[in-house]
Amino acid sequence: MQILVLTLFPEMVDAFWSHGIMRKAVEQGSITAAALNIRDFATDRHQVTDDRPYGGGSGMVMKPEPLAAAIRTARARAPAAPVILMAPQGRMFCQTVAREMAALPEIILVCGRYEGVDDRLYRDLITDELSIGDYVLTGGEVAAMAVIDAVTRLIPGVLGGADSAERDSFSNGLLEHPHYTRPPVFEGAEVPEVLLAGHHRNSERWRLAASLMRTFVNRPDLLRQRVLTDEEIDIMRSWQDDLSRLLDKAKSY
Ligand code: ADE
Repeated sequence: MQILVLTLFPEMVDAFWSHGIMRKAVEQGSITAAALNIRDFATDRHQVTDDRPYGGGSGMVMKPEPLAAAIRTARARAPAAPVILMAPQGRMFCQTVAREMAALPEIILVCGRYEGVDDRLYRDLITDELSIGDYVLTGGEVAAMAVIDAVTRLIPGVLGGADSAERDSFSNGLLEHPHYTRPPVFEGAEVPEVLLAGHHRNSERWRLAASLMRTFVNRPDLLRQRVLTDEEIDIMRSWQDDLSRLLDKAKSY
């Protein structure tokens, strides 16, 4: 996948793909990634990229000319790419959107700054808008990096274990189970015994139960949308039985 990021701060994103799994993805050719500096496309002497809003008010607006020229240059390099502006009013990014994007050959991400971009850029240059959550950042760079990170790790061959992306939180509609590694006792806290026993089937059942419980406590909305498997129903019925026994006992006091 070819990823182009248009930004006023290319050093931020260049640092991002110089480390860890992102770097590995670049080195092994799973992605090619480049940041274009929007300021380089400003033609005036001071390379100005913002201006005051028509109609008055506080804050500045990104000027259309440098951004339009930057987008046209990016589109010449990645003609099939959607041009996605990172903005809090955009479509909400989530694992499903990440999976859709991971199948694309090219993407162009535009990082807004100031109060926003001149609205005329939406006429035929910006094709989509993405938000990473209901809060306002000072610019789109952090949001673009979150999107690139979530998308890149879904590209086949980027993560080590064959199934590590499939087991993630959200990938199967449940939050991920807890993880443990050595030592077996850390500051008095023990690893659950079932995981130490080395019985694969039992460990898998424990993990599924832990995923279900975590999802039930932290994100019951995910469970409400879910078609439960027989095994999941079985696990939740055992909680129901445990709870009934507890409540019966409480009643008898
Ligand atoms: N730019 C500023 N805030 C943002 C957000 N929440 N998501 C995406 N881009 C942004």
